Amino acid sequence: MELIYRGAEADVFKGGWCDRPAVYKVRKPLTYRLPELDGLIRSQRTSHEAQIIHQSRGAGVPAPWLYYVSPEEALLVMEFVEGERLKTVLMDPAMTGRRARELGAEFGRDIARLHAAGIMHGDLTTSNVIVGGGRLTLIDFGLAIRSQRLEDQAVDLRLIKETVTGAHNGVSKPFMRSLLAGYSEVLGGTRTAAAARKLAEIERRGRYARVE
Ligand SMILES: Nc1ncnc2c1ncn2[C@@H]1O[C@H](COP(=O)(O)OP(=O)(O)O)[C@@H](O)[C@H]1O
Ligand SMILES: [Mg+2]
Repeated sequence: MELIYRGAEADVFKGGWCDRPAVYKVRKPLTYRLPELDGLIRSQRTSHEAQIIHQSRGAGVPAPWLYYVSPEEALLVMEFVEGERLKTVLMDPAMTGRRARELGAEFGRDIARLHAAGIMHGDLTTSNVIVGGGRLTLIDFGLAIRSQRLEDQAVDLRLIKETVTGAHNGVSKPFMRSLLAGYSEVLGGTRTAAAARKLAEIERRGRYARVE
């Protein structure tokens, strides 16, 4: 198996599962934790991530197929999603405003479907979205929570806005505008306006906090 990503909490390998390309995500033992507690946390996070992936697919949001879940081994085996990270795609100097708007709208609709189902992704960066096969697939649900709170929805939107603003080729504005338009197609104008207001409020709070 080939290591494709080494994270703080998990390593990700590419291998096979019944002749299909598969991703093995293994949560590593963390030595600064008590071993008993560490085992418990890793197994809980593994089953939590598997549950949320399953629920997201149920809500109509593309997420990898799960092939095998072993909380004891802190292991998830899932579909290898072919494509490129949204981050790489948006950073491409050849990216056009039109394509950025398409991607933003689709992503916005996906986020809204998640939120409508009471799932907050919790780590909505452009590294956790794969563009391929003519669609977007969301991955990395390890930090997802169940919530109906507007504030939590706005926190999800804020993270994506922050990471997209790091793309320096001028596509962040059209991308974010279309993202909110897509969000509103699914959740409606009233809820979207409320989420956008909350987002602005959180951003203001963040600025004051930095000034202090
Ligand atoms: N199902 C998958 N298909 C293709 N690539 C994946 C898949 N899952 C993870 N990856 C790759 O591995 C990286 C890390 O996986 P991720 O679940 O985001 O771990 P972490 O929680 O450490 O961020 C992703 O950014 C992506 O490049
Ligand atoms: Mg990730």
